[in-house]
Amino acid sequence: MAGTRGLARLTPVDLLRFAIVGFGNVGAALARHVHERSERVGRRYGIDLRLVAVADSTGFLNDTAGLDGNELAAWRESGRRLAERSGAHRHCQLEDVLAAGVDVVVISLPTDRDTGKPGLNVARASIAAGAHVVLADKGPALLALPELEREAALRGVTVGASATVGAALPTLSVARRELAGAELLEIEAILNGTSNLILTSMRERGISFHEAVAEAQRAGIAEPDPSYDVQGWDTAVKLTILTRALIDERATLNLVGRTGIDELEPDFVEWAHRTGGRIRLIGRAVRRNGGAVVTVAPEVVPPHNPFHLVDGARKAIRFVTDDLGELVVTGGASGRRDVAAALLRDMLATKCQSGVWKG
Ligand code: HSE
Repeated sequence: MAGTRGLARLTPVDLLRFAIVGFGNVGAALARHVHERSERVGRRYGIDLRLVAVADSTGFLNDTAGLDGNELAAWRESGRRLAERSGAHRHCQLEDVLAAGVDVVVISLPTDRDTGKPGLNVARASIAAGAHVVLADKGPALLALPELEREAALRGVTVGASATVGAALPTLSVARRELAGAELLEIEAILNGTSNLILTSMRERGISFHEAVAEAQRAGIAEPDPSYDVQGWDTAVKLTILTRALIDERATLNLVGRTGIDELEPDFVEWAHRTGGRIRLIGRAVRRNGGAVVTVAPEVVPPHNPFHLVDGARKAIRFVTDDLGELVVTGGASGRRDVAAALLRDMLATKCQSGVWKG
């Protein structure tokens, strides 16, 4: 059969029951993505991905035999809410959502940067109930990822957060696994695809900042309020999550020195281009005096720098260590599919220990 040559064909034997809590654009995209990839995952890893519950603020649906993610995604995309479906429960208590037995809870609720709620409460309760947690929501990761990971370890479960820190660009997992044993001295990164796409479009096609923002919105990668991207908030949030997890847990968003690309002066842009440089919105966390100094600002990247060629919605990260030198990862463009694919990756990782797939 096309696409399976050379691969052992497995009958799915390992059931992975998952719930999606928060059924907006991201939740619906995940439901559809899993629906489209379930055959591949079953064939390749022997895992039967089963959506057993979805919840939004109006209610929830559950079925131990599995819900149709594609149909639910279409329902959501037509602007309707879960409580309007027949068979829906018109309340939303997490214990009821989990009652049917859930291995992984995917949390894709609106982010509150100050309190992490309601996603943080859902994460804590899910872990307490013995479920793995996968975060699409940046709020809980920003405020409490290390704490959630400690709680999860005590319960023998895990917290996946790759969708909150670059999605398709691997960041946390690279640092933790490939740089284990070394001291991480600095993180330098392009973490916001929207800003990088805007800067690239302005340079390559000479369009205005506002035209480039509108294009990024049409491409579906800018946040609903694009000032979150262009003022550097998105980069600051992602970098704070990484800094707390990898350098200093005391780092907080309000201590990030932040300048966005909306503050670029035309003379500066013209000078950068004339001298062969490229402007990137760079997030930087430097280990210093037992803590970390975290900044976000546009910088001019010269031609020999690995970030010079990171154009469009692509992202990049450079880790500087004492014993393992420097490591640069590029790629992971922001797009419509990347968050859903990163969530699926984290779901599958719950079945993978020490690089060996079970199932
Ligand atoms: N708006 C973000 C970006 C995607 O442009 O990278 C979600 O984090």
